[in-house]
Amino acid sequence: MPPATVFVCSNCGHDSAKWHGRCPGCGEWNTMVEERPVAAPVAKRSKRALKPVALAEVEAPKLRRLKTGIGELDRVLGGGLVPGSMVLIGGAPGIGKSTITGGALGNLAGAGRRVLYVSGEESAAQVKLRAERLGPDALRVPIVAETDLEAVEATIEAESPEVCVVDSVQTLHSSALSGAAGSVGQVREVAGRLTRIAKERDVAILLVGHVTKEDALAGPRVLEHLVDCVLQFEGERERTYRTLRALKNRFGSTNETGVFEMRENGLVEVADASARFVGEATQGPGSVVLCAMEGSRPLLVEVQALVAPTSLEPPRRVANGIDRNRLSLVMAVLSRHAGIQLGNADVFVSVVGGVRVDEPGADLAVALAIASAARGVALSDGERPLAAFGEIGLTGELRHVGHPDRRLAEAAKFGLSPVLSPEGEARTLRAALAAALGGADRPSRAAA
Ligand code: TYD
Ligand code: MG
Repeated sequence: MPPATVFVCSNCGHDSAKWHGRCPGCGEWNTMVEERPVAAPVAKRSKRALKPVALAEVEAPKLRRLKTGIGELDRVLGGGLVPGSMVLIGGAPGIGKSTITGGALGNLAGAGRRVLYVSGEESAAQVKLRAERLGPDALRVPIVAETDLEAVEATIEAESPEVCVVDSVQTLHSSALSGAAGSVGQVREVAGRLTRIAKERDVAILLVGHVTKEDALAGPRVLEHLVDCVLQFEGERERTYRTLRALKNRFGSTNETGVFEMRENGLVEVADASARFVGEATQGPGSVVLCAMEGSRPLLVEVQALVAPTSLEPPRRVANGIDRNRLSLVMAVLSRHAGIQLGNADVFVSVVGGVRVDEPGADLAVALAIASAARGVALSDGERPLAAFGEIGLTGELRHVGHPDRRLAEAAKFGLSPVLSPEGEARTLRAALAAALGGADRPSRAAA
């Protein structure tokens, strides 16, 4: 009889009947993962040639979508949940995964859909407490608190919901494998088996997965290829704003981002996030509004910088919401091409509201915020904050970025003009600084 499970190296694929700390195949440590052996292939049948079809003639049925009633979530999903699909929602603990999935099921139940909430993480009573905050529809959702995968499978088969939430993949456990719940082998087994059931029964399954800050836990990463859609919930726990973005989507674009705010009664969509962020911009020294793109949607966010003299060696460089390497680049160009020396100053840069901007189009706003902070000069005209976007090249030139028209239109909507960008007069960072600060050649305070 073949062994019940095998251990397979996730690095080289070597398999073995027992676990090794170090793979006998490639010598890597901690790469052996428990798996169930694949059934032996059925005896070969005679080969039959297939008839290829021109792509133009392939029939693509229009996807049915189940609206979750949470506009931002539906948008990120590409128009709603696709029946029979597997969606993984990843995010740090406390970010709001249970809140958003609970709210979505509540709306679906309210719309007359059959739903099921499987909680492996919290007791039914704990989930009820949350649902009470979310409103009457959330309280209609049927729940089972269970961690045994086989029991969960049987329940899904018996109840045959249209949409099922499994919270979370790390808490479920299959008795077919010996590893503990949350181990790579278990997490893969749970996700794989649920994916199969989703396809077979045409259930849309929302699978919740934790990711730690360091991405340490066996989590969403090892599942990405198994599921149809991976959503990442981001933001800082202490802050109210959260963003939801698609990292993978077989049924839609991965360019969409939803913005939410955590309130007393659940997550509230922020349909007009730009208005929020512009309204809240401080306009003091170090504050600039960035015309960013979140996928296909323009978003105005405030970038703040603080430059403070320090005797620390090396000085601190702290980036929140932008890439650290990008910050280093911007600072190097500021120093080399715009005469702003920051060698003996701590520099902090942050995108307000816990939003993350991962595009080089943020460079110019970051540079302006730092220069403004270093000089102690506000860039606002007294009424409106300064808005900017654009990439900065290594020779100090401003470079074009995607969708300038949409960014400018969004800024114009809030009366922010002129916008400093590669589309305008300024060709270089130095020229842009001169336009914003007037007299870019004054020595910076931090250097003095
Ligand atoms: P939760 O959805 O449990 O996070 P996750 O499942 O990702 O771990 O909730 C996150 C936090 O949000 C929790 O600390 C409580 C808070 N919260 C609110 O502020 N308002 C609400 O209406 C709810 C339900 C939660
Ligand atoms: Mg939770």
